Amino acid sequence: MRIRFDKYVIETCEDVYEPAEDSFALLDAIDMIKPSEGTFLDLGCGTGIVGIHVAKNYGLEVIFSDVNPKAVRCAKLNASLNNIRGSFVVGDSMYRLKEVDYVAFNPPYLPGEPEDEVDMARCGGPQGIREVMKFVNNLHKVRRGAFLLLTSFNPIYVVLEEIRSRGLHTRVLFTRSVAGEEYFLLYVYRDR
Ligand SMILES: C[S@@+](CC[C@H](N)C(=O)[O-])C[C@H]1O[C@@H](n2cnc3c(N)ncnc32)[C@H](O)[C@@H]1O
Repeated sequence: MRIRFDKYVIETCEDVYEPAEDSFALLDAIDMIKPSEGTFLDLGCGTGIVGIHVAKNYGLEVIFSDVNPKAVRCAKLNASLNNIRGSFVVGDSMYRLKEVDYVAFNPPYLPGEPEDEVDMARCGGPQGIREVMKFVNNLHKVRRGAFLLLTSFNPIYVVLEEIRSRGLHTRVLFTRSVAGEEYFLLYVYRDR
């Protein structure tokens, strides 16, 4: 299936998370901050929709990364469809956080254990924050700011406490209710 936006198109791929309301909420959060220059890590890129949005609208240099190799292949296909260069990394890229100005993560947030790599797009351990906490533990390395989606399935105050204990600031850009879930769109940054 091909999804068309103003400035780009996204092709969905088998076994790769299809852009949904959570993906679109993350795009809206990024549009509120308008990242200006530097490098941007699309962590857990899936089809690459977030990185492609950023490259097309803000001209940042994007690194697309996912633990699912099929997702990275899909992001590469979509980048090429949209004439974007970028770099592509298969694996758990939390360690790359230190190399970037901005990062965005729409994590696997549902409570539960993933049974395969496709499930890794949705399930993040008993409270749905296993990947989120790994992300938070590396956030102090990011040069400018981080976008993170959390939901009403997650213990949000645990995550906020952990971020703040690292001397970082958090701003809830907005909340959005979708089909019985509530999304919390966070921006994390170093200085006011
Ligand atoms: C909810 S999907 C989001 C996909 C896409 N960013 C979007 O918003 O449509 C989460 C993605 O994160 C990937 N993922 C899960 N844990 C990861 C990790 N530790 N490092 C990199 N990617 C991860 C999954 O494979 C999946 O593609």
